[in-house]
Amino acid sequence: MPALSPPALQPFLDLLRCPVCRACLRPDRGALRCPAGHTFDIARQGYAGLLTGARATSGDDVAMVQARNRFLSTGTYAPIREALAQLTADVLPDRGTIVDAGCGTGYYLAGVLDQLPGARGLGLDTSVRALRSAARVHRRAAAASWDVFRPFPLADEVADVVLDVFAPRNPSEFHRVLRPTGRLIVVRPTDRHLAELRGQVPGMVTIDPAKEQRLQHTLGPFFEAAETQRLEYTASLTRQEAADLVRMTPSARHLDDANPARHGLLSCQVTVSVLATSYRPR
Ligand SMILES: C[S@@+](CC[C@H](N)C(=O)[O-])C[C@H]1O[C@@H](n2cnc3c(N)ncnc32)[C@H](O)[C@@H]1O
Ligand SMILES: [Zn+2]
Repeated sequence: MPALSPPALQPFLDLLRCPVCRACLRPDRGALRCPAGHTFDIARQGYAGLLTGARATSGDDVAMVQARNRFLSTGTYAPIREALAQLTADVLPDRGTIVDAGCGTGYYLAGVLDQLPGARGLGLDTSVRALRSAARVHRRAAAASWDVFRPFPLADEVADVVLDVFAPRNPSEFHRVLRPTGRLIVVRPTDRHLAELRGQVPGMVTIDPAKEQRLQHTLGPFFEAAETQRLEYTASLTRQEAADLVRMTPSARHLDDANPARHGLLSCQVTVSVLATSYRPR
């Protein structure tokens, strides 16, 4: 008797497509298989390993994921999660489908699903370390390894909301997988975000002032902005939290040992400043 896929993946099979030939996928002995025989393992932790062959060029490593899990569990970014849940609730129909591109550990997807009892959510990320968390983050969530820069292993017009929170973007694929009534919700930092921390860590990646223009330029052909919320507040960080916040970003390489004090990182107040925009497909 063929083994079923983990229950978490079962309700998402209508969404998924074979990344090689676009056919439907069926569970088969601990894997997902298409009629042509393309086979994708289901990891012990429950996520579908759809990204096979050539490795993705980006994705968080284990230290970054651990730091992200620790930091997000402090609740410092809970207001961002709440704003996102509200923006999603405004547009999501009952029993809607959310796709979280670059979902990381699934922190935001879980928060949104908590507020929307009929919704289901699929997270995509290149980082298997992050997916181990994301696959188990919520009982109405599932996760799959995928590189957002490649055509998504998803059917056309299946998502009511695509979330992109501090993650890479693929506007044409976002557009293809969204229903015409759907929304893309993008959260990104402003140039004031964590400015105090940037001052403390030499070489910490700065926010490109032209970022908003570039975002508009790349999304513009596919989407028009429907609503933007600016969220800005001050948070007090312990030295450990400040270090985790740096370690969960690409700036982590500038903190190359376990002792934040060596880098002069202190407990501090930081400005959290992000924009969250809901976009309508053109
Ligand atoms: C800054 S983190 C944000 C994670 C999550 N959205 C959050 O805010 O907690 C960026 C995420 O994008 C993932 N990522 C990087 N490049 C990617 C790619 N090409 N395709 C899919 N995910 C990618 C990383 O592994 C990481 O989990
Ligand atoms: Zn196939």
